[in-house]
Amino acid sequence: MDRIKIIGGERLQGAIPISGAKNAALPLMIASMLTADRLTLKNVPNLADVNLLARILRNHGVDLAVDGKRSGGVAHLGETFHLTARDIVDTTAPYEMVSRMRASFWVLGPLIARMRVAKVSLPGGCAIGTRPVDLHLQGLKALGAEIDIDGGYVLAKAPNGLRGARVTFPKVSVGATHNVLLAAALAKGETLIENAAREPEVGDVAECLVKMGVKIEGIGTSTLRIQGRDRIDGAIHTVLPDRIETGTFIMAVAATGGDVTLQGARATDLTTALQAIRHTGVEITEVPDGLRIVRNGAGLEPTTVETQPFPGFPTDLQAQFMALMARATGTSVIRETIFENRFMHVQELARLGADIQLHGDTATIKGVKVLKGAPVMATDLRASVSLVIAGLAAEGETTINRVYHLDRGFERLEEKLSRCGARIERISAG
Ligand code: UD1
Repeated sequence: MDRIKIIGGERLQGAIPISGAKNAALPLMIASMLTADRLTLKNVPNLADVNLLARILRNHGVDLAVDGKRSGGVAHLGETFHLTARDIVDTTAPYEMVSRMRASFWVLGPLIARMRVAKVSLPGGCAIGTRPVDLHLQGLKALGAEIDIDGGYVLAKAPNGLRGARVTFPKVSVGATHNVLLAAALAKGETLIENAAREPEVGDVAECLVKMGVKIEGIGTSTLRIQGRDRIDGAIHTVLPDRIETGTFIMAVAATGGDVTLQGARATDLTTALQAIRHTGVEITEVPDGLRIVRNGAGLEPTTVETQPFPGFPTDLQAQFMALMARATGTSVIRETIFENRFMHVQELARLGADIQLHGDTATIKGVKVLKGAPVMATDLRASVSLVIAGLAAEGETTINRVYHLDRGFERLEEKLSRCGARIERISAG
């Protein structure tokens, strides 16, 4: 298994291109199942999760062609995918695939909507909590799907097709919103989703559906009104920039000091996180090609945050923020309200010398003057990148094991950082 070796202490200087958002690219790829026409997606990041979903979609009969990157093209504009689901040849999403990536469960909505039948394995993904799917099923049942669970599979059917309905989620869920939104596009009549997730990635999927001919009101709000159609068109859509990658690199610069421009980054998708990071003493300014991050050698102000659904502080940046606060000049408190088990990075950060106490959903971080490099283990996607941030700020050598977690969600991470002066390299096992 590959490892990443970091020699800490270098300031970051230069430019980093921000990739297309993983969490938008995945549901956008799934949206291709709604139509027999071609859906072209631009700015798709080259990630293990994207490649795995491509395999799953091919299994269902989706034809995928990828344009090569043109030399001299803009660095942060990723690959172009042409997806055509002329015929869905298989309505089963098997355990071997869905268990490796939770987002693949979202094929359920489009499959029942288009094929009126689906068999989808219960999902897997990062081990950051129990992560049930009750909200997905509640929403799809409201649209008329009959659902049974048997042998670890969701068996769904809608012999007369789905019908628009009112779906009121008792809790905000990104995935359940995607699943119901995608299904509603092909349901008969109007669907009203209340308490929908407002994450920018949900908005991006809705914008793409609008290009595919679906009428949707309320994009960007918690109430989505969707007029279903019996036929959906193809479209061309560009994946929005990855706000989690953006936030991660901002925190890397904050941790090491330096001056870096994040090309293609958007401030509007990150307001609460930017507020918190600015409070620590980092300068973040909007520049014509993205965001410029500057931090001189001054100490980091301790800062308290609580994760919340969008527009709150994203849970996907919680681990990185903790790595940053590990060296603040006082005590910070981080409360995780989305996932109950998303603190596995705490014990690994402690190996580098961080002083963190955990009580239930709350971590209290007493800033220390120095972190010291050590061997650590990546436990999930966002936790693993928090170890990279801590390693960049630590004295000496840090080795991160199990880096396949990183490859699921961060495109060319070592390359992007080393071009800005970080001493980071991948050590291949083979
Ligand atoms: C998505 C993101 C993930 C992010 C998370 C929260 C993708 C591919 N993944 O995950 O990076 O951390 O949103 O912003 O976009 N829940 C239920 N029942 C359900 C569904 C969810 O109780 O049926 C709970 C979950 O356990 C969790 C909370 O709702 O406590 C939010 O989860 P959800 O928004 O669904 O996360 P994902 O869509 O899996």
